[in-house]
Amino acid sequence: MSNQLLKGKRGLIFGALDANSIAWYVAEKAHAHGAKFVLTNAPIALRKGDIFKLGEKTGSEVIPADITQVDELEGLFQETQSILGGNLDFILHSVGMSPNVRKNLPYTDIDYNYLAKTLDVSAISLHKVLQVAWKMDAINSWGSVVALSYIAAQRTFSTYSDMAQAKAMLESIVRSFGYHYGVKKKVRINSVSQSPTITTAGTGVGGFKSFYAYANCMSPLGNASSDDCANYCISLFSDLTRKVTMQNLFHDGGYSTMGISDTLIKSCFTCQGECFDDIVEKERVMGKK
Ligand SMILES: NC(=O)c1ccc[n+]([C@@H]2O[C@H](COP(=O)([O-])OP(=O)(O)OC[C@H]3O[C@@H](n4cnc5c(N)ncnc54)[C@H](O)[C@@H]3O)[C@@H](O)[C@H]2O)c1
Repeated sequence: MSNQLLKGKRGLIFGALDANSIAWYVAEKAHAHGAKFVLTNAPIALRKGDIFKLGEKTGSEVIPADITQVDELEGLFQETQSILGGNLDFILHSVGMSPNVRKNLPYTDIDYNYLAKTLDVSAISLHKVLQVAWKMDAINSWGSVVALSYIAAQRTFSTYSDMAQAKAMLESIVRSFGYHYGVKKKVRINSVSQSPTITTAGTGVGGFKSFYAYANCMSPLGNASSDDCANYCISLFSDLTRKVTMQNLFHDGGYSTMGISDTLIKSCFTCQGECFDDIVEKERVMGKK
């Protein structure tokens, strides 16, 4: 299905690692909706090679850049503008990483150098992207920037560790920069707070199966998939949402507003996440991830 909602628009997409990545789905949809864009990821992630397949599929060039390095971002924006032939209309920030989570350190014993890295990669990087774009005047009026977040910014999830602080900071940057970019150039900046999703970053969080199954049982509409998330991002990049800015938008099947659901009362406390495989199989059959 394509309504060409992004026809004529130019974009920059951070964070497609493999076919499970949320950014991968967004890139495929953006292509189907008529956008031209550049794909970027950390040089080390490019070694995996998958992103080049996405590049071929969507007719997009791939440019390596570490999102924490301002000079690399400046080069990235310059090259992107020259490849696409002008300023950008949309940017997707779909980047997150915590060395504390990777190393499985308990929250009460995190390493502070790792914490600094978590915040830099997962939150401050959004500020860096926006500041570089601002100084280069690289985003068109009514352009749209979307960053991906998670409800651990507001609530405690015991194994989400310092990524909770990163998401809280990310959402705060969305509001603060959203004000300045809105006044200066009518650029919109929002975060999408997405359901647990089966990706490399997602499944790296301890107890992910329980996260996923619990959220699915709690949400009246069920968890939002990567495919659903991509559709939502396309709507936010489109001209149909021109007055939406500085928001943290929950995209979670209703999870964030729930207390407890019938499904959870009846099943989850007894199965303790065993339904995960059933849910994934059902989604697979429905043609989703
Ligand atoms: N999967 C979930 O359950 C879930 C839920 C809510 C929000 N999110 C958020 O969605 C976003 C995308 O994650 P995903 O789930 O698609 O996983 P993913 O692992 O596919 O994507 C994370 C990306 O961040 C990139 N990255 C890490 N360090 C980088 C650096 N220094 N420079 C440039 N890129 C770097 C990785 O290479 C990878 O492409 C993240 O912000 C994540 O926190 C994920």
